[in-house]
Amino acid sequence: MLKISLAICIPLISLAFQAPVPPALTPTQVATQEDHKKMMDLLKITTLRRGADGRNDKAPNAANYDESKANPYPTLPDPLTLKNGKKVKSAKDWWDKRRPEIVEDFDREVYGRMPKVTPKVKWEVTSTKTEMNGTTPVITKLLTGHVDNSLYPQVVVEIKVSLTTPAHAIVPVPVIMEFGFIGGFPRPAGAPPLPPAPIVTGPTWQQQVLAKGWGYATIVPASIQADNGAGLTQGIIGLVNKGQSRKVDDWGALRAWGWGASRALDYFETDNSVDAKKIGLEGHSRYGKATAVAMADDARFAIAYVSSSGEGGVKIHRRNFGEIVENVAAANEYHWMAGNFMKYAGPLKWSDLPVDAHELVALCAPRPVFIGAGDKGDAWVDAKGMFMAAAGAGPVYKLLGKKDMATEIFPALETSLINGDISFRQHSGGHTPGPNWPTFIEFAQRYLGTLAH
Ligand code: GCU
Repeated sequence: MLKISLAICIPLISLAFQAPVPPALTPTQVATQEDHKKMMDLLKITTLRRGADGRNDKAPNAANYDESKANPYPTLPDPLTLKNGKKVKSAKDWWDKRRPEIVEDFDREVYGRMPKVTPKVKWEVTSTKTEMNGTTPVITKLLTGHVDNSLYPQVVVEIKVSLTTPAHAIVPVPVIMEFGFIGGFPRPAGAPPLPPAPIVTGPTWQQQVLAKGWGYATIVPASIQADNGAGLTQGIIGLVNKGQSRKVDDWGALRAWGWGASRALDYFETDNSVDAKKIGLEGHSRYGKATAVAMADDARFAIAYVSSSGEGGVKIHRRNFGEIVENVAAANEYHWMAGNFMKYAGPLKWSDLPVDAHELVALCAPRPVFIGAGDKGDAWVDAKGMFMAAAGAGPVYKLLGKKDMATEIFPALETSLINGDISFRQHSGGHTPGPNWPTFIEFAQRYLGTLAH
């Protein structure tokens, strides 16, 4: 007996010494995995397909970058056909019948439902200072949106926004608001890594905006909702759910971030230095996704710059190029979406989704949207899949008397398709919104005008 057990033990011990020790999970990662599993249980899903591996092109599940394999499901849902098969022929039918159908599908299956009633937010200007940005004197206000938590005081939500307007403006100004970071506020756990500091060779986007006489703002997404699954019982989602886990069709972080942006817009409506009818929203990558959702949800946003939003944003879900549905359904990203979205990486296929990303763009109609991407190092976001969504929304814009991109042919790098109300450009840089700012501003100027200051 003794001999046998020793014989078993020795290889086990030597194995234990050789095996690489997996890095310990942080408590946030552990809680995230638990919540992800809980959602799978709720959905009665036992396994999810693996996402694409964007880091190792030799991996069996390496991300596909071969256009000839990118369209396994080439037929997209028709934004202008009702569920009963009838064609939508009038703007009235779009607004009264088809749009609500698409909204319901996105709410239930993709981004989750925003609660019918959300807590009130009381805005406080915590500081005001006059400063210079380049050669322009500006006034910067720091704002905190205190979310009413009287129904569940254990969860505290304070939305952080900074607003900068030209100091010498004589009329209320348009403002471009970015989902981003504000110096001085600590970066929360789970926040995405900051992109490497860009080599600034010209004016910053804020200075470009000021040159038009507009103002700019930043809203901190993590102050609304944490960027991980562990945080779903906190933030605005956790507050409304009184600290309980989500149901399968509850809202995810993208929609919650958009909700926060709408609350900032409520504040802008009360600030005399701002023309609240001319608020643009911009976000990059995961915040590009949130920008598209916010624009679709709140018709008060005048214009949007949706940068490198990729899968879960305005990239066609039915595409196999770069990031795919399975990546977004995994434990590190599922919190952006409704729990139900995970079904399409498990028992269901991408083609079972009742809607696709071109219909998210269509929900923004008739308001102007600029869709951007990069090239080198930005293949993951699938520029062509986003162009297809921009093109696929065209019929809705036209039905509403607006202009589409006037082409369905994917343009060469750095071609600005900005003559219509849906616009697109792929710049030749990497995963950054930077190089497309001048084109977005040129496009936006048609709608926001230019002000002297
Ligand atoms: C990851 C993720 C993307 C996301 C990006 C970001 O790459 O897969 O969906 O857009 O992070 O936000 O930087």
